[in-house]
Amino acid sequence: MLASAIDGIRLSLHVLAAAIWVGGQITLAGLVPSIRRLSPEATKAAANAFARLSWPAFAVLVLTGFWNLGAINMSSQSTAWKIVLGVKIAVVVISGLSAYLHTKAKSTVGLALWGSIAGVSAVATLVIGVFLAN
Ligand code: HEM
Repeated sequence: MLASAIDGIRLSLHVLAAAIWVGGQITLAGLVPSIRRLSPEATKAAANAFARLSWPAFAVLVLTGFWNLGAINMSSQSTAWKIVLGVKIAVVVISGLSAYLHTKAKSTVGLALWGSIAGVSAVATLVIGVFLAN
């Protein structure tokens, strides 16, 4: 069945924000070694520029995520769907928290640890989201 206009807007916003939050982290991780080779200071500038896009995208994900919940008939969802939703919300918290701690890390170990947790949890939220899509 074709989605209604409002469902199209809701899901397009959610997926566009996911593309920025998740795809942006992967893209930045791929670009950083080349940027660092050109100029070590430019890495920070690129990270700051990405943060100006990624945090608003994360806010849009949380807002449209709750909009998704409002648009779904909860009583018709299976227990498995509800459990997966709970797991997703926990992974979203890990995704946001680890990305924040990555931006605050000073040591190489801290940057690598929180950066990798942020990357893995961001991809996990996307995959879990696809399983939730009706
Ligand atoms: C990092 C944050 C998030 C990412 C990357 C993400 C990603 C996704 C993706 C890719 C989909 C599949 C969309 C589709 O194929 O149509 C989806 C669906 C969904 N997401 Fe998220 N999401 C995030 C946050 C949230 C939050 C915070 C909630 C709830 C509070 C949420 C609730 C849902 C629901 C209920 C669906 C199913 C929507 C439907 O079928 O109508 N998401 N998400």
